[in-house]
Amino acid sequence: MLNNKPIGIFDSGYGGLTVFKSILQQLPDYDYIYLGDTARAPYGNRSFQTIHQYTWECVQWLFKQGCPLVILACNTASAKALRTIQQKDLLNEDPAKRVLGVIRPTAEVIGDYTNSKEIGVLGTKGTVQSGSYLIEIGHFFPDIKVHQQACPLWVPLIENGEHDKPGADYFVKKYLDEVLAQSANIDTLLLACTHYPLLQQKIGDYLPGNIRVIAQGDIVAKSLVDYLRRHPEMEETLSRNGIQRFFTTTDDTADFDHYAEIFFSAPVKSEYAEVRS
Ligand code: DGL
Repeated sequence: MLNNKPIGIFDSGYGGLTVFKSILQQLPDYDYIYLGDTARAPYGNRSFQTIHQYTWECVQWLFKQGCPLVILACNTASAKALRTIQQKDLLNEDPAKRVLGVIRPTAEVIGDYTNSKEIGVLGTKGTVQSGSYLIEIGHFFPDIKVHQQACPLWVPLIENGEHDKPGADYFVKKYLDEVLAQSANIDTLLLACTHYPLLQQKIGDYLPGNIRVIAQGDIVAKSLVDYLRRHPEMEETLSRNGIQRFFTTTDDTADFDHYAEIFFSAPVKSEYAEVRS
């Protein structure tokens, strides 16, 4: 093992690389291990139980690689597995280990973006069904009205490289029309899925100019900077050699590398991880 105490970044597949890219821009010196559970992705339509089981297996694998801190850079896993991991699974682990998600940091700042106090949350079926954004945003901004929209075909379009092709237009417009039909007062759309930033250009093309589109990468990265400042006991544990390693649960690592580059905007050379316990 090259890294001593890297930060673990987990996603069901490639989407977390959009968050990892932002984290690296803000915190380039730390060591990182990215794990994409591509063999079992997408998670978006799976049950609570399955998403929890898969996510916890991956988190434990990252712990075994020496990561004291793991970021679930996946909305579906954050929505459906994080609470059980934090409140139950971690109790049987080393008490110094931490797992953080992407929903709470986003909910904490969403009020800074909306004037009308009505926002649209676009996510996978799993994220929408969990109601996690309604609950978390409600804690911080009870006066904000949240309109949710599941966009189940966006992840497959992106994962098949169709996100910037004309074929994607129909489904981009369809879900945007559906969310905007929920209220004429929506002034902010949150991309609550780590894949969706790849569609941001097309989404922007279909929206009226007064509607703002928010991606989570920079929000989550800033929140991690703040977390490490507030938790010196964790910050001092982490190793800082600037080493990044990428792992996939798919045995065809070349295939992972090909798609990963689209999300990460830089070449990726991955290794195979056997995470099943
Ligand atoms: N990464 C997931 C998310 O942010 C989307 C992909 C999936 O469904 O597994 O919700």
